[in-house]
Amino acid sequence: MNIENLKNKALKNERLSVEEIFFLIQQLRNKNKQEIYKAADEVREKFMGNLIYLRGIIEFSNYCRKSCDYCGINSKVKDVKRYRIDEDEILKACHELKRNGQTTVVLQSGEDLFWTKEKMGSLIERIKKETDLAITISVGEREEDVYLYWKQCGMDRYLIRFETSNKEVFEKIHPDDNYEERIECIKTLKRIGVQTGSGFMIGLPFTDDWDIARDIDFCRELDLDMIGIGPFIANPLTPLKDNGVKHDIDFITGIISILRLANPMAHIPATTAFDVVLDHEGRQLALKRGANVFMPNSTPQKYRIDYQLYPDKPCVDESAGDCANCVVGRILSIGREIGKGPGHSIKTINN
Ligand code: SAM
Ligand code: FES
Repeated sequence: MNIENLKNKALKNERLSVEEIFFLIQQLRNKNKQEIYKAADEVREKFMGNLIYLRGIIEFSNYCRKSCDYCGINSKVKDVKRYRIDEDEILKACHELKRNGQTTVVLQSGEDLFWTKEKMGSLIERIKKETDLAITISVGEREEDVYLYWKQCGMDRYLIRFETSNKEVFEKIHPDDNYEERIECIKTLKRIGVQTGSGFMIGLPFTDDWDIARDIDFCRELDLDMIGIGPFIANPLTPLKDNGVKHDIDFITGIISILRLANPMAHIPATTAFDVVLDHEGRQLALKRGANVFMPNSTPQKYRIDYQLYPDKPCVDESAGDCANCVVGRILSIGREIGKGPGHSIKTINN
């Protein structure tokens, strides 16, 4: 087993085994980081090209019915001011992000049942009609008929991370959630033809490198269209406040590289949490090491302070326009271009 062979497998889109993925993680821990980054960049270029797609994220409600042990907006956290952005203000933010060159809106919230099947459906219809943006929804676990209805209203994609593929750990850190039900949501979305994104956190308590290898392989097994991963960052307001680890940016961006080698045809965003580990540079490094999507924060500025899943979240003081400009600069600085189309899944739909 060596990195060159595994890269050649990836270039043919052959599935790596869990043992091969684990081997790559050990190489990353030891000495061969640069070779892994380079291999991933080559595979990214072959399958995904040089374009970076912008998906503007609007965090439209921080109400949540769940109490995930790591999350700063979970229902038990008292020190957070709860908000919901109304439909008109969401539409305004969508128009603005479109003007800023972003071709997808990602509507994300806690698990907030105020946004019923019908309310969410009419919001999706309105966004599609007024802006024609690609629409990604990320509001947690719902029934199949709800996902189907939203698809009919114009939803293109859905993001719902499995968080960890280790069932025991999942259940330990999700006091009111069920592993099988969460996985079922992901499978349902795939089955009904919604472009499906999922992923996991790196460095959750009670996990090791074998868990990371299995998480990466699980993304392949699920045949995901998009894969969002990021470092777990301990939040002092949550039960896991003392379980944080000090992340090494070269290791966690290397995990992006291995994710790319194991999933050549998936869209992989450089997620915000990489910037927590290396301020203003983490996301560029992820893009240089296998990622191909950037998700600028397009939430109206006044709400950002109250959507802190973890401490030191970047861009809290910036406006949507500030982030839009900053992002363009960051992408051009690494010699890549911005995608003008919607950047749909290359597995299902042509761009
Ligand atoms: N409620 C929706 C759901 O359950 O999918 C979407 C919102 S949820 C807050 C978005 C993601 O934030 C989670 O899937 C989780 O991976 C990530 N997250 C939450 N707390 C985090 C933390 N302390 N460190 C890193 N990522 C975190
Ligand atoms: Fe928000 Fe740079 S991405 S300020």
